[in-house]
Amino acid sequence: MTPTHGADMPPKTKLGILISGRGSNMKAIYHAIQEGDMHASIAVVISDNPQSEGLDWAKNEGLQTYAIGRESYAKKSAFETAICEKLQSHQVQWVVLAGYMRLVGKTLLSPYHNRMVNIHPSLLPAFPGLHAQAQALRYGVKVSGCSVHFVDASMDGGPIIAQEAVHVLPDDTEESLSHRILAVEHRLLPTVLKVICSPPVFSPSS
Ligand code: GAR
Repeated sequence: MTPTHGADMPPKTKLGILISGRGSNMKAIYHAIQEGDMHASIAVVISDNPQSEGLDWAKNEGLQTYAIGRESYAKKSAFETAICEKLQSHQVQWVVLAGYMRLVGKTLLSPYHNRMVNIHPSLLPAFPGLHAQAQALRYGVKVSGCSVHFVDASMDGGPIIAQEAVHVLPDDTEESLSHRILAVEHRLLPTVLKVICSPPVFSPSS
């Protein structure tokens, strides 16, 4: 075995990021890459929402972006085929759902099974779906947080990779709790991706 470094370094892992709105988790990934913390590149950003703030930001940063609206397709499978075509045309190796607010169907999942991760603002399996932070407040939990997991066909479901807890404070609102959880998301997601994308330390010698 010989150490992998210098010219032997494998190519960067190509990420495809799916978003629906603000895109702050996408920005956290982008900044981690810029800071040299992640052996990855953002090959493409796709939003199902053409008005997405994150999509504008990504475009301004010079990233390859596409808006693919669900309403342009009669069937979910056709919509997901359009997404897959873009991911594949950019040779995406791992797909990151960074605030992508749709249930992933099998058309999109099959080619990226075990190569698709999602970030969710609760300690799964508690509070999947929309408004996880409001669900946590309604339930009255004293600790919530965020999870990064492999994606399966269920809502915010699949094997959990990493979680971090955030205390719920007595006077928390949905906004204040979301704000504190989001700060943790911005650390947790890049940390997981850094491990996923890290090149092997050793490669077999010839
Ligand atoms: C984040 O809090 C993310 O965890 C959540 O949407 C927000 C997107 O924010 N995702 C889900 O709820 C998935 N079920 P962002 O667009 O600023 O990254």
